[in-house]
Amino acid sequence: HEKCMRVIPEIDTPGHAVSMIAAYPFLSCFNRKLAVATSWGVKHDVLCVGKESTFDFMEGVFDELCEVFTDGVIHLGGDETPTTRWKICPHCQKRMKDEGLKDESELHTYYLQRLSAYLEKKGIEARMWNDRKKERMVASSVAWQLWNGDMNENEAAEEINKGRKFIISDVNHYYLDLPYGHVNLKSVYEYDPVFKGVKKENEKNIIGIEACLWTEFVPDIKKAHYCTYPRLGAISETAWTNKENRNYTRFCENLGTYYRLLHYFGIEGATVKEANPKGLRKLLSRVYWERRKLCWDGLHNIIDNYTVTKK
Ligand code: ACM
Ligand code: ZN
Repeated sequence: HEKCMRVIPEIDTPGHAVSMIAAYPFLSCFNRKLAVATSWGVKHDVLCVGKESTFDFMEGVFDELCEVFTDGVIHLGGDETPTTRWKICPHCQKRMKDEGLKDESELHTYYLQRLSAYLEKKGIEARMWNDRKKERMVASSVAWQLWNGDMNENEAAEEINKGRKFIISDVNHYYLDLPYGHVNLKSVYEYDPVFKGVKKENEKNIIGIEACLWTEFVPDIKKAHYCTYPRLGAISETAWTNKENRNYTRFCENLGTYYRLLHYFGIEGATVKEANPKGLRKLLSRVYWERRKLCWDGLHNIIDNYTVTKK
């Protein structure tokens, strides 16, 4: 607060948690001994939501985290969680039965609801990604972070109008790791995080935006700078300035000052031309990015899932 900043840590579970399982195999459904993932993508081994030990463990993690991060907000993650293991895990199935949950999607929500309630008791506000919250079991005080098409803008607007707080991180505008061929500077500048359907009196429920720089495909700081600037300048204006007061031509005219400031700090961003690629340049930028899909472990998952089922 001294520096007018709040630091919000995110411990992403029950998905995206292979490294936790690698260290503590009992956290997974079948006590699997896995290596820390070295490739990008959504993994099928997620935390077991049936075992009580998972909750004991997570509560311990949060107790310790609260000692380090004292700003009162913790992000629980909660995105991209396949239910492959839960469907065949006796602990998870028992939990669903005991709690009267109708499917694994509700089990996912049960997990997030329980952890956010634990944080609330400690006076900590929980945040989570928007994935699979349609059951509306998560307390209305928990802010959701909107990133993908799992919930479209109409559905989000409906929730916002009902009073839920949102943070906007639209993948097609605010993901800095996506290539300029996919998310160009102009489209970012012209995006309105206060989208159609949000009533004027409820705009305050959009409490902010977050630009994400995921680094699986950002090998060094030079690439990080290239992806981030000048796009972050455009993103900042979408957050600070109402749409009617924004003007892309004016923004570009003022970029000289922005680049001078960046250069002063030794930062080499993309040029405006590079940030708005056209034709072949745009195509190549997208092809280069789409090659990431080769790392999605499709075949590996099929074989691995078969091994688990056969146990
Ligand atoms: C996300 O990109 N899975 C939040
Ligand atoms: Zn399980």
